[in-house]
Amino acid sequence: MIRKAVIPAAGFGTRLLPASKSQPKEMLPIVDTPTIQYVVEEAVAAGITDILMIIGKGKRAIEEHFYRNFELELELEEKGKIKELEKLKRISDLANIHFVWQKELNGLGDAISYARDHVGNEPFAVLLGDTLVRSTSGESVTKQMIDVYERYHESVVALEEVEHDKVSRYGVMDGKVIDKNVYLVNSFVEKPDPKDAPSNLVIAGRYVLSPEIFDCIDKTVPGKNNEIQLTDAMRLLLEERAMYGLHFDGRRYDLGNRLDFIKTNIEFALMRDDLKDGLSAFIKELALEMV
Ligand code: G1P
Repeated sequence: MIRKAVIPAAGFGTRLLPASKSQPKEMLPIVDTPTIQYVVEEAVAAGITDILMIIGKGKRAIEEHFYRNFELELELEEKGKIKELEKLKRISDLANIHFVWQKELNGLGDAISYARDHVGNEPFAVLLGDTLVRSTSGESVTKQMIDVYERYHESVVALEEVEHDKVSRYGVMDGKVIDKNVYLVNSFVEKPDPKDAPSNLVIAGRYVLSPEIFDCIDKTVPGKNNEIQLTDAMRLLLEERAMYGLHFDGRRYDLGNRLDFIKTNIEFALMRDDLKDGLSAFIKELALEMV
């Protein structure tokens, strides 16, 4: 059973400046909820009960969001705002959430290495804190990956198909399909030149890893951008163990990217009963003004 998840959230978010100057990019809201809360909810929906967040300077707001705010709770109670109060309490009850600081921003592999003591000798999930994934089947993508892990008892990465000229932004998989949407991984390469990419199936920011990954990270030398890359550590793990890829049915939203950030807000608002009518009327109005 997989109970633990690690959410790396230490990066600066330079692509979202100035919005991310004094607030963590993971706290920027999608409609009315910080991005990272959706990530935690995805993990919880997959049966995760224990979450370690890797944070750093300027990320305190994430801690405050997941801890209780007694003064605010009292205020809401006194004013009879029971619905808001329940919503607030639910956040701190989602899971046992812990925090650790990454001393230096030295890559995703380095960030994950800080989870070693906390994770111990169990398989665990990794969910990037600035990326949302939504499955069309409605089932949490992390849950689908855990199901694959339970079938093969080896690490699993979520895969997404992207246009060939975009592969240089991602970790790219080389492998072969062995079951519906499931790949047996042969290798990975981090952010290759499109002409050297083995496929257009890329790592989509969700992983279920066996604990041997920590030894592999220790052996990993700096790679792309002179950072310790998780993708390189996974390539080392592949020398000893099998690994699987799940091409999940759904979409990934990269919230470190401005256009994706805006699109995600619109898409998520259109899925909300309280907002969809007003927002679609506004979009139609705008579209008419633009023709
Ligand atoms: C990281 C990983 C990369 C993965 C990507 C998904 O890159 O290193 O393999 O495809 O996340 O978002 P980053 O976006 O942190 O540069």
